[in-house]
Amino acid sequence: MQIHIIDHPLIQHKLTIMRSKSTSSGEFRRLLKEITLLMGYELTRDLPLEDVEIETPLEKAHGKRVAGKKVGIVPILRAGFGMVDGLLDLMPSARVGVIGLYRDPKTAKPVEYYCKLPDVENRDFILVDPMLATGGSAVAAIDMMKSRGVKNIKFMCLVAAPEGVEVVNEAHPDVPIFTASLDRQLNDHKYILPGLGDAGDRIFGTK
Ligand code: PRP
Ligand code: URA
Repeated sequence: MQIHIIDHPLIQHKLTIMRSKSTSSGEFRRLLKEITLLMGYELTRDLPLEDVEIETPLEKAHGKRVAGKKVGIVPILRAGFGMVDGLLDLMPSARVGVIGLYRDPKTAKPVEYYCKLPDVENRDFILVDPMLATGGSAVAAIDMMKSRGVKNIKFMCLVAAPEGVEVVNEAHPDVPIFTASLDRQLNDHKYILPGLGDAGDRIFGTK
């Protein structure tokens, strides 16, 4: 199983609060944004740098800056939407695409309803969705992106089930998965255990 688990103590602390059923939607959204920002720091570790000359108030100096890398952030609607702002805080010039998918409650299979991506030429993409359960939604989203010419994708989630990791690894071995937690298993309804329930409902306060 190929997976990067980003389990900084602050991330584990915040995720534990998110899992609790007594956490409100407002708090859940705030923590999701904070964790996304912390994970984004690790995810962007390989951004290329270039040398620049600047002038401090005292003298000329050499510095480094991110070498104009084009980045695209793509949330899987709805729940992925909750992970966009944290990444945009880190990379304000990133472009944002959107993939509309929902899991049919009876079959747990993804149903596609929307896709709009920024210009894909020379752009690295971060696909975001808090939950990787069966892997059906992530695989469908990556298929949609690749069919539109996207070459370089990282997938970032909050909680992953081993079953979903296997499915994504098998279908798209070139796409690294980053998660804050690898949970135990799926239940009979394909929900993650222990998980945090329905991420979309908890973010948007629906049922
Ligand atoms: C959830 C979640 C993922 C998907 C994961 O979305 O946000 O997109 O399920 O499940 P999978 O790995 O088994 O495909 P959902 O379909 O509930 O839609 P929502 O974001 O609109 O709530
Ligand atoms: N989607 C969710 O929001 N939660 C799960 O546990 C599985 C799929």
